Amino acid sequence: MSGPVISANLVDAIALPRLVWLRPNLIGLVFTLMKLLPARFIIRKALEEGELRPGGLIVEATSGTFGLSLAMVSALQGHPLTLVGDPAIDPPLLRRLEDLGATVHIVREAGASGGFRQVRQEVLEKVLASTPGSFCPRQYSNPHNPGSYAPCAEQLAHAVGGIDCLVGSVGSGGSVCGISSYLRLILPELNVIGVDTHGSVIFGETDAGNDGWLLREVGNSLIPANVDHTAFDLVHWVGAAEAFQATRRLHREHALHMGPTSGAAFLVADWWARNHPDSLTAVIFPDEGYRYQDTVYNDAWLEAKGVRRDVPPREPVEWNRPYNGRDPWSFFRWGRRAYSDVMWIGPSADQGNSVATEEAGPDAAHPPPKLVPDGPGGAGATTFTRTERVEVARGRTDDAPTPLLRVSAEVPVWVDADTAAEVLGDAVRGLSALDIALGGNGLEVDGIDIGVAVSAYA
Ligand SMILES: Cc1ncc(COP(=O)(O)O)c(C=O)c1O
Repeated sequence: MSGPVISANLVDAIALPRLVWLRPNLIGLVFTLMKLLPARFIIRKALEEGELRPGGLIVEATSGTFGLSLAMVSALQGHPLTLVGDPAIDPPLLRRLEDLGATVHIVREAGASGGFRQVRQEVLEKVLASTPGSFCPRQYSNPHNPGSYAPCAEQLAHAVGGIDCLVGSVGSGGSVCGISSYLRLILPELNVIGVDTHGSVIFGETDAGNDGWLLREVGNSLIPANVDHTAFDLVHWVGAAEAFQATRRLHREHALHMGPTSGAAFLVADWWARNHPDSLTAVIFPDEGYRYQDTVYNDAWLEAKGVRRDVPPREPVEWNRPYNGRDPWSFFRWGRRAYSDVMWIGPSADQGNSVATEEAGPDAAHPPPKLVPDGPGGAGATTFTRTERVEVARGRTDDAPTPLLRVSAEVPVWVDADTAAEVLGDAVRGLSALDIALGGNGLEVDGIDIGVAVSAYA
């Protein structure tokens, strides 16, 4: 006889989402706390693989829902936990984390580049070094983060058989890339739409310093290794005001009291579902609204921050390339391409962004410079002859914890900070644009040849 199921513990009881109809062709994946899935799975795998011993210390740098999820799983399994966070950990969250037994270090000063995330990372590495045997989950690069979403994809496939489109916000990339990779085993045509925010580097905008962002937990000042860019058909950038308004609408119209990343994803999914009435879309809602009661759900706060909107946003503006445009809501046909493939094709910044005048694709008149010498001449065989004024953005990837200097526009290559500093000296720090001469033996920046460094990262 089957009857009500009693879960082993709360995390097992609430880890999977409820599936809720929002329209006849739109399903919401309503999580209580989505990050419980990766927190539980990463710890389980670490124990199985011997990286963590029973009762061993877990250390992670996080200010958000992953920290809370780790604290819940650690409390249930008897692991001490140290979290390194920043002021985004508000007092009620801090009390909750400490009540669950976590030790929380809050860094108060942001780094010159890389913001709080860089400083958090430095403190994290110190804590790890001083406590041998401790385990760090590293949600941004640990493959068990996307790997943890298999049960969620299975649940969706069982419930509806198949869907045509998945929409979700992207922070570490774990949820959207994880769920879609499993679904595409049975639904290879599945459309995947990632939702990012302006000033996040994940899909090619330049870093606006996300420590000041009002819309948190989506976007990143680094490109996490867990973001598989080739998973995405479309990318949307949604501003904070638009996300907050959609969050309130989700509550008003569907009684779903969720956080602002849910609102951002809802805005996009609702738009897509309206425009594709014959296809079935699923949208990810990662957390509940309680933590945002005094902010997103408070009109006075919205007013004070200048992000209160009374009229719904207009349709999103299609961009022909990722760039730091001013449209509050925009999208780009990413086309399941690698990051480097997309970032090779953009026209220079002053050429506008109209899709009507320019097809996304390699520009025959200005083929991208080829940075890796392909002839027998080796590193001295590059063939460029132009000089470019290009934008310089600071970003990092999780696998390269030192800051990277991204030379973007038509030269989308990454040079690690050590190399950049060694070759370019302090001159590059704080610059937002550089003259780049392409020619001779390689790439010259302000008269200094960095051809070898660039070749290594091209
Ligand atoms: C509330 C919330 N929404 C969205 C995301 C993005 O999810 P992911 O990290 O799986 O890309 C996060 C990640 O921390 C989150 O906490």
